[in-house]
Amino acid sequence: MGRLLAAATTVLMLAGAALAQGTNYKCRQGFFECADVVKVGRPSTVEELQAMVAMFPQVKASGVGHSWWREQFCAGNDSRAVNIVTTEQQAVLDFMAAPVDPQQWVGKQVPAGFPIQVNELDEEVTVAAGITQRALLDYLSDYKYWKQRSGWTLPAFSWFLDQTIGGAVVTATHGSSMKYASLAAQLRRLKLVLANGTMLELSPKSNPHLFMAAGVSVGRLGIVTEVTLKIKPQQAVQRRLQARKMQLELGPSPWLSVGSVAGDKPPSASDACPPLPRYPLVQELSFQDFAAQVLETQEAYNAAKQANDVDGMRRALFQASLPASAASSAGWLAVDETQAFWALPTASVQRTDYEHLDHEPLAVLLNAFPASEPVAMSGPEDDVYAQVEKRAVAANSRMALNSRFWSNLYVTQLRNKVAAGTFESRKAFLSMAESETQVTSTFAPYDQYEVAVPISRAGSCLMEVGKEVYGDAKLWDGARTPFLVRFVTEEDFYLSPTTDGPAMYVNMEDYVSRSSGRPNDQFQRIMQLFRQRCGARLHWGKAGWPQHAKCFKGSIEYPSTWCSFGCAVQELDPQGKFASEWDGWKWSATLNGNPIPLASCCTSKGFSPSCQCAARTDC
Ligand SMILES: *[C@@H]1O[C@H](CO)[C@@H](O)[C@H](O)[C@H]1NC(C)=O
Ligand SMILES: *[C@@H]1O[C@H](CO)[C@@H](O)[C@H](O)[C@H]1NC(C)=O
Repeated sequence: MGRLLAAATTVLMLAGAALAQGTNYKCRQGFFECADVVKVGRPSTVEELQAMVAMFPQVKASGVGHSWWREQFCAGNDSRAVNIVTTEQQAVLDFMAAPVDPQQWVGKQVPAGFPIQVNELDEEVTVAAGITQRALLDYLSDYKYWKQRSGWTLPAFSWFLDQTIGGAVVTATHGSSMKYASLAAQLRRLKLVLANGTMLELSPKSNPHLFMAAGVSVGRLGIVTEVTLKIKPQQAVQRRLQARKMQLELGPSPWLSVGSVAGDKPPSASDACPPLPRYPLVQELSFQDFAAQVLETQEAYNAAKQANDVDGMRRALFQASLPASAASSAGWLAVDETQAFWALPTASVQRTDYEHLDHEPLAVLLNAFPASEPVAMSGPEDDVYAQVEKRAVAANSRMALNSRFWSNLYVTQLRNKVAAGTFESRKAFLSMAESETQVTSTFAPYDQYEVAVPISRAGSCLMEVGKEVYGDAKLWDGARTPFLVRFVTEEDFYLSPTTDGPAMYVNMEDYVSRSSGRPNDQFQRIMQLFRQRCGARLHWGKAGWPQHAKCFKGSIEYPSTWCSFGCAVQELDPQGKFASEWDGWKWSATLNGNPIPLASCCTSKGFSPSCQCAARTDC
């Protein structure tokens, strides 16, 4: 504690030499950084973290990985603010520096302070918030020396694995699972450091209301230090390409023949690119056909919903609920475990469908992943620091041109990832290898956006957006990487984008504006279309909030769960310690049309149904 106080009252300017490589001490996530006076807190134990939270008036947790939204991840913009790093708990640092093979615990007790505790009996894992998803998944899949000989995995996980698990959970980060939903939906319990520094453990039993608030809380209720997640045995998963519209592509690599399209120059020799692999068989859909498939799913779902036919709603979305023959004759309309890459410039879609198998077939492919290279991380003595500069990824001017070239390059790379086959579940789902993360994060700067469109309008949405994307404005020209389309089912958390029904998520990246120095108007127009025409919600951890959610009105974008979350804030952080720089954390209530303090509508179960959750009136 004495050490902590000394550190807090001295602004330590750290020399670069004192910094361990690979650790980012600037509160920077991607291209966004906090105001220079904001401090960085690096507690090495949970107790120190608690003391630090109690001491500062403005606090926010920082993990590692992606976040494209400064207003949300910066604790504040003056010297009262501290961003507390969750990756420097000693136990986390030790593990990340030298990952442990679970085999080492054979015949021993796992030490109590070890940051990943597997409970095979209850099929759950308790993990420190600062551990990355990748480290957790690798540890689980190697956990095979006791009850479960094939190891364990999370039922669903995200494509980008190198963010801390705490941040991934509380932003409702998701993979492709219609059945298992987001990472938050795997939660059994969590531990949260509150504004006064006390620890609160929450489970659906201990306090269902606060649990529904905390699971997807975007850091607004406190700092999550530990999560307990469901796990399941590793199981074989079959990956199938959408095969209704198979197309043979034996000719030369596609981008060599696209240069004739108006305004599109063929890539020059200086666009040095890797040798072109030739794919004997490429299974692709046109964008039109894909949109039509999603429309059929939407219509089947809506018809069942209208008829109050819960089974029918399930049948519309889940392959598993169909007998195999029906599934194939229905033409793969179900969207459980579906991922689709939409390459905008070529109006083509690669759709992959996954199926969990009961038994591991003999032909499971053990596709190799690059060995993880431990990053040396060791911290200086004290806990609270001034920020230290870190160089940003350099602009890549070639990104500004040739949308078709880039699109085809990325699609070619992705083809390896979606090839059909049967894999261990850890390896079957799309995720980035560590080496790819390093490449994408240094190759060219980009911002990642993601929207969630209700299933009830997902197909119409694609049709409508598609019309403009391929209209006169050529919006497709704003894309470089393919848009990734996935489907995720409903979950109960108040702020989950799927809190009131399943959604189609569309992930998209702007690779142009940061390299060209000009706004990517075509890309932003696509975002705008999703927001205005499709009722799309924004992903809590990704870009677009300042431009596309100005004067955010949670009561309009979300059902009354928005105000239930407000009730949790009233209870746990009435002073707004975790309010961040964002101005959208605002709640209003009315009773019979008259304004009433939110608190008088709050019950132990959340926002009272006799009140109305009202929109803010300050903008
Ligand atoms: C800390 O805050 C919580 C939530 O407001 C409250 O329940 C608890 O009593 C407080 N603890 C102390 C020691 O003040
Ligand atoms: C700091 O944040 C406050 C709101 O929290 C805002 O009004 C102000 O403009 C910000 N100042 C700067 C320099 O960003």
